[in-house]
Amino acid sequence: METKLWAVDKEEPVLNSYPQIMEAASLLKQNEVVAFPTETVYGLGANALSDQAVLKIFEAKGRPSDNPLIVHISRIEQLTKLVDNVPELAHKLMDAFWPGPLTLVLPKKEGVSQYVTAGLGTLAVRMPDHAVARALMEVSGLPLAAPSANLSGKPSPTTSKHVEEDLIHRIAGIVDGGATGVGLESTVVDCTTEVPVILRPGGVTKEELEKVVGKVDVDPALFSQEEQHKPKSPGMKYTHYAPVAPVYLIEGSESFLQQTITDAQRKGQKVGVLATEETIAQITTTEITAIACGTKKDLTTVASQLYDGLRAFNATKVDVIFSETFPRTGVGAAIMNRLEKAAGHKLIKE
Ligand code: TXA
Ligand code: MG
Repeated sequence: METKLWAVDKEEPVLNSYPQIMEAASLLKQNEVVAFPTETVYGLGANALSDQAVLKIFEAKGRPSDNPLIVHISRIEQLTKLVDNVPELAHKLMDAFWPGPLTLVLPKKEGVSQYVTAGLGTLAVRMPDHAVARALMEVSGLPLAAPSANLSGKPSPTTSKHVEEDLIHRIAGIVDGGATGVGLESTVVDCTTEVPVILRPGGVTKEELEKVVGKVDVDPALFSQEEQHKPKSPGMKYTHYAPVAPVYLIEGSESFLQQTITDAQRKGQKVGVLATEETIAQITTTEITAIACGTKKDLTTVASQLYDGLRAFNATKVDVIFSETFPRTGVGAAIMNRLEKAAGHKLIKE
């Protein structure tokens, strides 16, 4: 399949890139699959109201059919066709965080495609805060079902180049609006219980949510690999975000990281290190492939560079990747969740 590429102005796409937006929107109306930027990661969009279109997303990504999709909307009115019995706390969260990196799981309305929800009685929805995503929905007039635009199991794409690496010739088009902002996927919150539950940590932190609705729980499955803790968000059970070489999380001092590197090198391994600028500056061992991601002073920079860092190792010949770890508060919770999944929970403690 030919994959069309359109470069668009990410600030004013309708004003400055109307022909490109029109062409992409018309492919979406023909039930084709088109990748586009959001403020979190690139999404792989299709008409959420068409079974045929939605099935093409699963095919292009190689996504298991039991993993439901997020429906993206550009206007609050679109909700009435998608979800029912929206609780008060969900309205509060929408008022506070939409448009933005927050996905709400709500009771779905009769008639919503069973493929979007993977047969569940609930639907995940969000209103993205990105002019290009919004323009595509406004011009096509469609709500868009969109998972992250990567092949299943790969790190989510934060640039159109990442999308091309994974999906060229598998989808109808890619709208290039530059690098995304947050860099990690949206926070998914289940609003069908009395106390809302975070199913996936992300761009909006637990602390920020609690300021708006009081107590918020976290799905215990996020901290455990035990069988009895099945995650309520089906996607969280899969290995994810993983580069080709095995990733180990290193918890301890910088000298411990240094020691771990030296031990691996003695065994003849080529070592990759994923860490902040500060940590990399302190490593004295030679012959490592160090990839810097962000600064300790501002963990949002780590979030926005993490996936590019993980993907970058695939162009190297390392045998093993050691990653720095972070406090699990604020955006650190989402960073550590993605790192744990990339590492398959392999942790080396001092
Ligand atoms: O930031 C994002 O959320 C990006 C951009 C493109 O919007 N999208 C994204 O989609 O990350 P995806 O498909 O990669 O992740 C959606 C997550 C999965 O873990 C899925 O299992 C969960 O949301 N999910 C979807 N519908 C659900 C539902 N009804 N109940 C529980 N979890 C659900
Ligand atoms: Mg994904």
